[in-house]
Amino acid sequence: MQAIRVHRTGPPSELRLEEVERPEPGPGEVLIRVSAAGINPPDLYARTGMGNIPAELRPPIPLPFVPGTDVSGFVAGLGPGVTEWAAGDEVLGLLRFPSGIGTAATYAEYVIAPVGDLARKPAAIDHLHAAAIPMAGLTAWQYLTEIAPVEAGSTVLVNGAAGGVGHFLVQLARRAGARVIAVASTRHEAFLRDLGADEYIDYTTTRVADAAKDVDHLFDTVGGPDGHLLAPAVRDGGVISPVFFGDYHDDELARREVRVIGGQVRSHGGHLGELAELVGAGALRVAVDEAFPLAEAWKAHERAERGHIQGKLVLRVG
Ligand SMILES: NC(=O)c1ccc[n+]([C@@H]2O[C@H](COP(=O)([O-])OP(=O)(O)OC[C@H]3O[C@@H](n4cnc5c(N)ncnc54)[C@H](OP(=O)(O)O)[C@@H]3O)[C@@H](O)[C@H]2O)c1
Repeated sequence: MQAIRVHRTGPPSELRLEEVERPEPGPGEVLIRVSAAGINPPDLYARTGMGNIPAELRPPIPLPFVPGTDVSGFVAGLGPGVTEWAAGDEVLGLLRFPSGIGTAATYAEYVIAPVGDLARKPAAIDHLHAAAIPMAGLTAWQYLTEIAPVEAGSTVLVNGAAGGVGHFLVQLARRAGARVIAVASTRHEAFLRDLGADEYIDYTTTRVADAAKDVDHLFDTVGGPDGHLLAPAVRDGGVISPVFFGDYHDDELARREVRVIGGQVRSHGGHLGELAELVGAGALRVAVDEAFPLAEAWKAHERAERGHIQGKLVLRVG
């Protein structure tokens, strides 16, 4: 089969299309014929050697490796004893995350998936859109249901609102009954209002902390050294949920009794099934910014590095 492999960490040009052996499913696994693979920031982190992850949290990446954790496709073979799925089923999944980063291998024509990581693809959407759901959708879902739920009637600020995680957070926080203020650059305003954002702040023209006050809960998908610039928007006793590492000036937060509650997404077929049902019912939208052929995975990573993504980038495979 054809797959994208990385032999040494480095720039997008290290993503090479190669002939590799088709894998065989073991017990508790299925073989998937990949139709589309979603692109996520950890794919870029793995390609570049995980330098942006704190050393103590950095997983080892085997070389060579096939990147990717998000998939949508058809069940093409069953491992011994598997009864949960049948050949031909259309499925999507976030595979082996976070433990299997660097080994999940979805940038390929076929991939092996643990049965518990999969959910049925909604018939209403194509595989390109289905492949855009897993990691970003599960992150938003698990933050809002397990890690840092919001209260109905609360005011929620979503930073990086137009991106993969952000565009799901905006919609799911509204479903939870929150009033949502979305922060993004200029081109995303109509997109975010269409998704249901109650307010929109263009961070390229407006200081967020000047425009948003007394926010109960900040979900920050941007983080980084400037994270603390958003903290004044959060009320005393409120919550900041970093989706990526950020510097929020902990001493000041402690003085104001602002709690920091973050976590790590994990593979979960059950949660993904609930998301897929919402998407299938038209109650949750998934946006694809751009799709690239598998052979041009390097172009997709170049696009991802330029940033300002609206929704998701995906690879067209089957
Ligand atoms: N904790 C977890 O388990 C978990 C899970 C998934 C992802 N993550 C992390 O979460 C982060 C976001 O992931 P993603 O997939 O959503 O990335 P993404 O699709 O690239 O989205 C990032 C968004 O942030 C916006 N942005 C960039 N700079 C900004 C700024 N200064 N202020 C406000 N918005 C800004 C970008 O668009 P505009 O600048 O045009 O608005 C873009 O839409 C990544 O760092 C990822 O590693 C963590």
